[in-house]
Amino acid sequence: MIKHSFIALSILAFATTACGDDDGGSAADAAEEPAFGSAQDVSTAQQLWSDVGSTYQTWGTFPGLSGFVASAAPHGAFAKIYINDTVAADIGAIADGGVIIKENYTADNDNAFDSITVMYKKVGYSPDAADWFWAKLSTTGDVLTNPAGVSLAGRVGLGGDSGCIPCHQGAGSDFLFSN
Ligand code: HEC
Repeated sequence: MIKHSFIALSILAFATTACGDDDGGSAADAAEEPAFGSAQDVSTAQQLWSDVGSTYQTWGTFPGLSGFVASAAPHGAFAKIYINDTVAADIGAIADGGVIIKENYTADNDNAFDSITVMYKKVGYSPDAADWFWAKLSTTGDVLTNPAGVSLAGRVGLGGDSGCIPCHQGAGSDFLFSN
């Protein structure tokens, strides 16, 4: 009985910390929370989509990368990449609120639109990974999941060997391939 209440207490303690209301800012929080896929992560992705989902196609692009660009695995054969004004203002030192939206296509025509990958700069959010929030969405903005059923939103892949962060960290200090 003592053992059982200890376990119940532990679960309660875990549930309480896991549902903390912070935005993942401190190192202690990062150690306790999953790197990605929490309810908070999904809600951040949904909020971002509701803010920009209907307008991002009017944004600019990285210099020389407008329209369809050839893309590499795992993103699909082609992409269209949009950057908001915050990114465009200083691509070399992207400020808080910068958003990059990459539409992934299996071929270079609009009917082959397959998914959306997003990088959203939140200063202080993920100091070990250039402070990007990452998400993978359907073409209509729903948060997609990995094969294990975990939502692809947050610090996706942090500390692991697959996912957005481990691959993008090879791209340089700001984790960007296209700059
Ligand atoms: C195995 C490597 C790899 C993984 C995993 C990966 N990417 Fe990328 N990503 C790339 C490459 C390479 C590019 C450059 C453009 C291209 O080839 O499509 C890129 C480009 C991007 C861009 C445009 C900005 C830039 O860096 O050029 C965004 C946004 C993006 N990826 C988001 C994501 C998100 C979100 C995830 C996780 C859900 C992810 N990526 C997973 C390799 C990867």
